[in-house]
Amino acid sequence: MELFDAIASRSTAKSLTGPGPTPTQIARLLEAAGHAPDHGKLKPWRFVAVNGAEREAFANAVAESRRDQNPGFTDEQMLLEREKIRRSPSILVAACVVRKDIPKVPEIEQVIAAGAAVENLLLAATELGIGAMWKTGPAAYSARVKAAVGLAADDHIVAILHLGTAVK
Ligand SMILES: Cc1cc2nc3c(=O)[nH]c(=O)nc-3n(C[C@H](O)[C@H](O)[C@H](O)COP(=O)(O)O)c2cc1C
Repeated sequence: MELFDAIASRSTAKSLTGPGPTPTQIARLLEAAGHAPDHGKLKPWRFVAVNGAEREAFANAVAESRRDQNPGFTDEQMLLEREKIRRSPSILVAACVVRKDIPKVPEIEQVIAAGAAVENLLLAATELGIGAMWKTGPAAYSARVKAAVGLAADDHIVAILHLGTAVK
C-alpha cells in the first residue's frame, strides 16, 4: 500500500473481532511507532500490551476508576466497563512517560511525540490490515488505571488501543 493510500484509508474500526495481531505484527507496529519524530531523542512513549493474565486486572481497574470518578456508578455500569475491556481482541496502552529533568523539551512536546508514535502505529496497522480503535475516556486519566499498567500518576495515557479484525 502506498503511504498516501494508508493515510487516506486509515479509519477507526466500527467493531472488532478476533484474531488480534500476531506477535510478529505487534513487533512491526511497535517498530513503526518508534520512528516517530521526537525532540531530544527522549523516546518518551511506552506501549504496554494488556493481554492474557493482565487483561482482567486492567478491566477491573477501568471499572473501579469509573466508580472513583462517580460514586453513583452502578454494578451494572461497572460490568459494562469491564466487558468493553474483556471483549477486545488485543489491547495496547500507549503512554507518555514524561522526562521532567529535560527542560529543553517541555512536557507538551513529549506528549505530542507520543501521539505521533500512536499515529505511526495506526498507519502501520492499516498497511497490515489490522483493525484499530484509539480510545481514551475518563479511565485514561485515572491514577488507578495508570498504576495497573505500571505508570506513575503523572505519566499520561495517550491511547487505549484496541486492535483486531475489523468487522465490516
Ligand atoms: C487523543 C484521542 C483520544 C480519543 N479518544 C476516543 C474515545 O475515548 N472514544 C472514541 O470513541 N473516540 C476517541 N477518539 C477518536 C477516534 O479514535 C477516531 O479517531 C475519531 O472518531 C475519528 O474517526 P476515524 O479515526 O475513523 O477518522 C480519540 C482520538 C484521539 C486522537
